[in-house]
Amino acid sequence: MRVAMIGTGYVGLVSGACFADFGHVVTCIDKDPSKIERLERGEIPIFEPGLDDLVAANVEEGRLFFTLESAEAIRNADAVFIAVGTPTRRGDGHADLSYVYAAAEEIAGLIDGFTVVVTKSTVPVGTGDEVEAIIRRVNPNADFSVVSNPEFLREGAAIGDFKRPDRVVIGVNDGETAPRAREVMSELYRPLNLNESPLLFVGRRTSELIKYAANAFLAMKITFINEMADLCEAVGADVQQVARGIGLDKRIGSKFLHAGPGYGGSCFPKDTIALVRTAQQYGAPVRLIETTVEVNDARKKAMAGRVETTLGDSVAGKTVALLGLTFKPNTDDMRDAPSLDIAPALIAAGARVQAFDPEGMHEAGKLLPGVSMKANAYDAVEGADAVVIITEWDQFRALDLDRVKLLMNQPVLVDLRNVYRPEDMLKRGFRYSGIGRG
Ligand code: UDX
Repeated sequence: MRVAMIGTGYVGLVSGACFADFGHVVTCIDKDPSKIERLERGEIPIFEPGLDDLVAANVEEGRLFFTLESAEAIRNADAVFIAVGTPTRRGDGHADLSYVYAAAEEIAGLIDGFTVVVTKSTVPVGTGDEVEAIIRRVNPNADFSVVSNPEFLREGAAIGDFKRPDRVVIGVNDGETAPRAREVMSELYRPLNLNESPLLFVGRRTSELIKYAANAFLAMKITFINEMADLCEAVGADVQQVARGIGLDKRIGSKFLHAGPGYGGSCFPKDTIALVRTAQQYGAPVRLIETTVEVNDARKKAMAGRVETTLGDSVAGKTVALLGLTFKPNTDDMRDAPSLDIAPALIAAGARVQAFDPEGMHEAGKLLPGVSMKANAYDAVEGADAVVIITEWDQFRALDLDRVKLLMNQPVLVDLRNVYRPEDMLKRGFRYSGIGRG
């Protein structure tokens, strides 16, 4: 199959590279010349394990191309994917669809022969209808079908998630073009082991909603265990054992029950708010998700307070070291990261803040101007009155804790990801607090 991928952001790049690796011929299109130049040189603009090798191998094989010029790729394509950004619109929390609609206009004028137009970006229910209407208006004779095919990729594990998904959701509306659209989509995903990764064909609006429902459910699950963690602290119980105790029940499942400082990232915060807005707009409010959004925002803001509680003193005039700034490990993504609430709150309370992150320093430096960035974890903890682990990078699990203790001004550790065991830390002479462990 010939694929055109519009947008070389996170989703577009990973999907494009993986489709090429499936054996299809993929052209990734972007309007940003510097991005295309870098990609052509083999530089990957994001940090995602394995993506550089995958891109290089498929470029080498002549199956993956990058271009600023969309015309030829779209004309030749069996499927054109729209994988552009849908940021939160300022002011009202709705998803900003201007990039999606601009892509639809562009595609419309170029369609040549039957073409499946696929929305890969996370788009509110009904967006596929609008994309279809735009193409129909611009090019009344076009032979096309608009399909929804949401992504469920986790940053840091995106290639595995693409190639071994739990399921692939494909939304096609019934109609004259539906059988051909289903055929193209089945062919695109044929290399998957379909016994393990079923293709789920549903209607287009249903598919659009599945994406939001999945992310909202996961965000709610995390928020649930975070509230249980607070309750554990109040009653003297252990949230990790609670998580295991409930997670072994197959109806609940053990994943996404790690208590922490609150969820962040490019999807959960944006998608939960967008779902809340859509539901309100249709007069069918999703109150559980409204509450999830509120509880999570409040949680991230409250995390800095844990430093003072553990320290037993104000942070004013003290030095606080932050380990991990990205919203989760194995990414350089800082979007809605808990560190963006924690660091400014500590600074406002009078602390000197120094930090280290294995991949996020460049982005973090721009977003956290008051924080002194250090070259490694040991430099970051030097002279600190408290260390806060915000992101559970593997290298922080393997720290030489005796060295950390010697470097610190006083051995206080606030572990927002439960990386360490409280009894070990007490034995080592740290004043320690985790999340939800009594
Ligand atoms: C998520 C979804 O998992 C993915 O399917 C979707 O397509 C995009 O959004 P991602 O944002 O990359 O992926 O990260 P994920 O691993 O889901 O983590 C999201 C946030 O939740 C992170 O801040 C993480 O630290 C937090 N989290 C996750 C927890 O606090 N506890 C958990 O148990 C799991």
